[in-house]
Amino acid sequence: MMLVPHLIHSFRSLTDRFRALFTLRNLGGHEAIDCISKCFDDPSALLKHELAYCLGQMQDEYAIPALVSVLKDKTQEPMVRHEAGEALGAIGSSEVLDVLREYAKDPQTEVAETCELAVQRIEWLKEQSSQESESLSANPYKSVDPAPPSTVQDTWMLKNTLLDESRPLFERYRAMFSLRNEGDEKSVLALAEGLKCSSALFRHEIAYVLGQIQHEAAIPQLIENLQDLKENPMVRHECAEALGSIAKDQCLTALEKYSKDQERVVKESCVVALDMYKYEQSNEFQYADSLVKLQEK
Ligand SMILES: [Fe+2]
Ligand SMILES: [Fe+2]
Repeated sequence: MMLVPHLIHSFRSLTDRFRALFTLRNLGGHEAIDCISKCFDDPSALLKHELAYCLGQMQDEYAIPALVSVLKDKTQEPMVRHEAGEALGAIGSSEVLDVLREYAKDPQTEVAETCELAVQRIEWLKEQSSQESESLSANPYKSVDPAPPSTVQDTWMLKNTLLDESRPLFERYRAMFSLRNEGDEKSVLALAEGLKCSSALFRHEIAYVLGQIQHEAAIPQLIENLQDLKENPMVRHECAEALGSIAKDQCLTALEKYSKDQERVVKESCVVALDMYKYEQSNEFQYADSLVKLQEK
């Protein structure tokens, strides 16, 4: 496979390697999965967590052994192990329930919470009535999420559930995905309030969905968490990526600033986000250019 060297070789720019990864993910199949799984010894936690994320989104049970070994490997960064646990939940096979239940007691909170959510997602998949899934809101982003949307539709009630720290995380995630699917300003502002909640895992997921929605109303809150040097790097990373996908001027300024951050994963997130943005811009120019040329003919 032509792409393999692009993904594997660390002398390639991280942005090139991410692009190779996304292409492999879209190709799918055992060869692509083997190739992705080979890179878990890389020094970049950002790249490794994205490998795990992509393996989960591909939803192929063939990736289960590689993901289980990453989840079990305590030398991997918590952010990478978290993503492996989440990916196992995304694949949704009952065969991993025991290992997920075991790691739901992991000393690393973000790993434990992730595995707990993954167990609940798999159990929900087994038990859901077709009636319930038909009444749930549709996900416009086509991502495989760690929890289904809620059966509730009222924004005010969803916001209450989202921010109520006495409720189970799975229920709050369900409210989060309903608000994400709604995606209007009121829902975005409710979600952004979640960036102040106590669970780092929860805050990082909020930043992730805000990046999917790409609504400007969340920019100041995302910048606030990115700027906070005491914030968990996994959350700061996700804020950076969300700002990159919203891509307004203030977002780009913040990304430039933190592209020299002390925390490697934050620094790399900013660099890759800026690179991807520039790449898309130049492609759009090329596209616009070729349209002009076509019209001239
Ligand atoms: Fe994550
Ligand atoms: Fe991430």
